[in-house]
Amino acid sequence: MHSTSSATTNRIFEQYAAKTPGSAELYRRAVNVFPGGVTHDTRYLQPYPLYVERAAGSRKWDVDGHEYVDYIGGHGALLLGHAHPQISEAVREQLAKGTHFGASHELELQLGEQIQKMVPCAGRVRFTGSGTESTLLAIRIARAFTGKRKIVRFAGHFHGWHDQVAFAVTSHFDGTPPPGVLPGVTGEALVCPPGEPAKLEQLLSTNDDVAAVILEPTGATFGLVPLPAGFLEQARKITARHGVLLIFDEVITGFRVSPGGAQRHFGVTPDLATFAKIVAGGFPGGAVAGRKDVMDVMTMRDDRQWNLDNRVPHQGTFNANPVTAAAGLATLRLIDQGDVIPQADRIAAHLRERMNDAIRQAGSSWLVYGESSGFHFFTNPQGRSVTVDDIYSGVVTREELKGGVAPSVIHQLRCGMILGGADVFPWPGGVVSAVHSEEDVEITAAAFKACLEAMEL
Ligand SMILES: Cc1ncc(COP(=O)(O)O)c(C=O)c1O
Repeated sequence: MHSTSSATTNRIFEQYAAKTPGSAELYRRAVNVFPGGVTHDTRYLQPYPLYVERAAGSRKWDVDGHEYVDYIGGHGALLLGHAHPQISEAVREQLAKGTHFGASHELELQLGEQIQKMVPCAGRVRFTGSGTESTLLAIRIARAFTGKRKIVRFAGHFHGWHDQVAFAVTSHFDGTPPPGVLPGVTGEALVCPPGEPAKLEQLLSTNDDVAAVILEPTGATFGLVPLPAGFLEQARKITARHGVLLIFDEVITGFRVSPGGAQRHFGVTPDLATFAKIVAGGFPGGAVAGRKDVMDVMTMRDDRQWNLDNRVPHQGTFNANPVTAAAGLATLRLIDQGDVIPQADRIAAHLRERMNDAIRQAGSSWLVYGESSGFHFFTNPQGRSVTVDDIYSGVVTREELKGGVAPSVIHQLRCGMILGGADVFPWPGGVVSAVHSEEDVEITAAAFKACLEAMEL
């Protein structure tokens, strides 16, 4: 690779503009409608985001008719790819019967039972409208059950966008509140460095008012910053010893890392777990699952005073709505058959290998790493001589892995990949589905090589 040059940087953006005039036109309108022109921060892209018209399997098509291999996968919701025939059929069938009964229905029960069958900690299940709602509810349940105020979070771990988790993800690690959040709220969350059991032990030994510890079980951003081997077991032991609940945020790992999520994969059972994405089959929805005695703080009793003083109330218009339940159930049943996850994992492992080949061919110091059906780009901001093993052994720091990438690098990478026919997440990385193919892998590896050569970092 060569030295930085705005001319070549511009070449990527110029080619992007030449390829995607339809997206440019829509974005010109969007900035007059949406703050920043987008409807989710992740979709923000300079010079402007790609506008997509349709999707099927592992591919999607933009408004100018170009085809892309998709690694956003509905923000991780689509382990079976876009418009999977069996999921679409289940949804069509349900649409014809009605979308919302305002009543209990058998599909929600079947989905709940399916979760109980697959997820070790699922003594009881409650449905929500999203992953953000799931972590909000799990934290509230933990506080109500233990009668304690504080939660422990790990720096960099993402749990959605409600106030209690809207800091210490990419900034505000010292607990100062980000704009719009009250100091009283951030003050109730203790931020711990991830992967350091001694620090967790120390926090819980010196604070007797902690209700729960919440974490992403494969590490921040689906393993962008991996946790050291054995950390989950240690966190389980430490929390149990201090009478603190352990919450696994399985919004992205749930039904992807194994049919029973990260908890089944690692053999560590939390007290509560949060779900969304795959559990909702590509539709809006989420769930909290957990120990029966803990989840029972939501159960109505005949004792009115207990209900008023102790019970966690929970509403939500679209909880377990029939369309989401139909899609989620069809999805989980397919995953439970056993072939889906190994297939996605196999393709993802091959993709990581081929992208690392592309890095070597381009003479770059980047690395591609990841586990399960995900991949992450290590952009190596300091140009260090490191290997993928160094990432897993902690030689590469958390700061280097998450948040250390200049935004201009992300924009170039995403636009450059789009030029070659692949769409990746800005974290930066992506997720692979069970319907991605070897052809997809080769397209993506070629796109990545061309992108690295054009980026001139
Ligand atoms: C681990 C994790 N928790 C929570 C969330 C928030 O989920 P949602 O976007 O459905 O609110 C996400 C979303 O990406 C996530 O990855």
